[in-house]
Amino acid sequence: MKLVHISDIHINADPVAGSDSVAEFTACLAHVEKRHGNADAIIISGDLTHHGQRHSYVKLAEMLAASPLKPLLMLGNHDHRDTFREIFPQAETDENGYVQYVRDIAGHRLVFLDTNLVANHSGRLGPRRQAWLSARLDEAARDKLPVLLFMHHNPVTIGVLATDIIGLVQKKEFAAILRSHRDTVRHVFFGHCHMSLSGSIEGVPFSAPRSTSHPGWPEFEGRLAYGHGPIEPSYNVALIDKTTVVVHTIDYRLDDRIEWEPLTGGDAGAVTVPPGM
Ligand SMILES: [Fe+2]
Ligand SMILES: [Fe+2]
Repeated sequence: MKLVHISDIHINADPVAGSDSVAEFTACLAHVEKRHGNADAIIISGDLTHHGQRHSYVKLAEMLAASPLKPLLMLGNHDHRDTFREIFPQAETDENGYVQYVRDIAGHRLVFLDTNLVANHSGRLGPRRQAWLSARLDEAARDKLPVLLFMHHNPVTIGVLATDIIGLVQKKEFAAILRSHRDTVRHVFFGHCHMSLSGSIEGVPFSAPRSTSHPGWPEFEGRLAYGHGPIEPSYNVALIDKTTVVVHTIDYRLDDRIEWEPLTGGDAGAVTVPPGM
């Protein structure tokens, strides 16, 4: 199974932190199409637009309509739920109107959370959204389907103040749900931090790609600052089989600058390996 995980595309008419988010997402989509058009699913984990404006969702809808790729969309703190749903009326919601849904793909259940609270930058997973998540994980366990869990906000403190003050508020509650479904959830995918991250929470591994729009630089001294500059945008590619999950960081802007050298000798050549080696 191959998943493409894109995040924080921040579509906007004007530059965002000095970057043209439309041009960056266009380049990202083209690269995914060229290199990973065979992915089983492509996910954009929120911050679809920078200001949640109608014209930005219209622009995104136009870009996706012109692409053969059909990414699954999620909301982030920069999004506006009602405006998103107006432009993407096919978007699935739960019984409370949150853009939360599941998809069964290649023997896994992908679960998509909505951690948006309109006009707030921190993430929310209040009692109703927690109940929805617990119910979906119970169902997956019953159906014997491993879960790949997607959300926008970081559910862990990452050590970078500028991001941590706007992370998921209900970290303890989320961790408790994960703890009781550790055998069901194989991996947590999130965005929001604009940094390439990996680690684990309650023994469940997680990963996050940078932003395509304005990738961030981790700042560990406790300054309330967000670093931008010559940092490569990225998306992630996850290769998943029954026992392993491998997550690659794809710095797609570098693709045409890579120099390839053919492998010769060693295991790449016709070398006879002695028995027992
Ligand atoms: Fe973002
Ligand atoms: Fe965000």
